[in-house]
Amino acid sequence: MKVLVLMGGTSFERDVSLSSGEAIVEALRKKGHQVIPVDAAKGKKLLSSSAKFLPDGIKEEPPDFKSLEKMKKELTLKAIESSNLKDTDVVFLALHGGQGEDGTIQALLDMAGKPYTGSGMLASALAMNKDMSKKIFEREGILTPKWLLLESENLTDRAEIEKEIERKLGFPCVVKPNDQGSTVGFSLVEDKKDLMKAFDKAKEFTDTILVEEYIRGRELTVGILSEEPLPVVEIIPEHGVYDYECKYTHGKSRYVCPAELSYEKTKEIQQIGQKAFKALGCQDYARVDFRYSEDEKFFCLEVNSLPGMTATSLVPKAAKEIGIDFPELVDKIVNLALNSKKR
Ligand SMILES: Nc1ncnc2c1ncn2[C@@H]1O[C@H](COP(=O)(O)OP(=O)(O)OP(=O)(O)O)[C@@H](O)[C@H]1O
Ligand SMILES: [Mg+2]
Repeated sequence: MKVLVLMGGTSFERDVSLSSGEAIVEALRKKGHQVIPVDAAKGKKLLSSSAKFLPDGIKEEPPDFKSLEKMKKELTLKAIESSNLKDTDVVFLALHGGQGEDGTIQALLDMAGKPYTGSGMLASALAMNKDMSKKIFEREGILTPKWLLLESENLTDRAEIEKEIERKLGFPCVVKPNDQGSTVGFSLVEDKKDLMKAFDKAKEFTDTILVEEYIRGRELTVGILSEEPLPVVEIIPEHGVYDYECKYTHGKSRYVCPAELSYEKTKEIQQIGQKAFKALGCQDYARVDFRYSEDEKFFCLEVNSLPGMTATSLVPKAAKEIGIDFPELVDKIVNLALNSKKR
């Protein structure tokens, strides 16, 4: 098949996406497909097929706003209108965050009539918006940490905000962007005196800030492939919080798969994962992130509709556990894309 791999783009997760793209391109080639690698931030221009797309690997921090701002978002349109796309059978979305994961590019590809991997426009938009996702989780009886949504321009009444957080969530609490990934802009706030600093940090990445109840406990994730849950992965990050550095620096996190849970608890979290996936209307594959509290409750944090796809990312790790190696996983995702009508 002829597969166009769309990667990079202008989100804060650009580097992570180039790294997923690199791995996906290699895997597709191994499976005998013809591959066209395209950086969504560069329009029609193809990425050179021999070179590594991210020669120095993922850094400790996401790319800075200034370097991303210089890139032109409109060029993505050019990539989608170009003849490269017209000749391809399917688009593999190796994008993470921003317009690649929030339904925008999905809608463009719907209009272009091109099959693409992962979820459709609506599920992508919902999954990228944690506040919207959490409202749906609640409606479906899926436990999620208590939360408040704040507009970054309405943070002036400090006393009032502190009071509301104290009343509804308590401390410690978590402050994070409502619509980003890779833990960018995240703070764990132990005391109300540190709230403003946390808001300032989140504001660098977003206009809408989520404040959440802090769930002490373990970090678990459930990959979903073809609507079915994969084995559970436990993450033990060196920093306590599974932050950007612990996500992408080799050796900064330990992974246990299958996670050490009883049979019953494994089934329970897998069922909740599948329910969250379906509740948002996700398709083909995704990853559902959880906190497992000290009193043994699973709190659903979010669904990633385009989860990391390097060979050592979480979904590939979980797939490997049931005997699906990385090239096979990538191939399966392509086949799912060709056989599912996007909702
Ligand atoms: N309410 C919470 N309680 C405890 N830890 C939390 C909470 N919210 C987030 N975290 C920590 O921060 C990490 C990132 O949070 P979350 O998954 O919500 O954001 P993200 O940036 O969208 O992540 P991803 O890279 O999976 O897209 C979690 O994996 C967890 O370690
Ligand atoms: Mg997450």
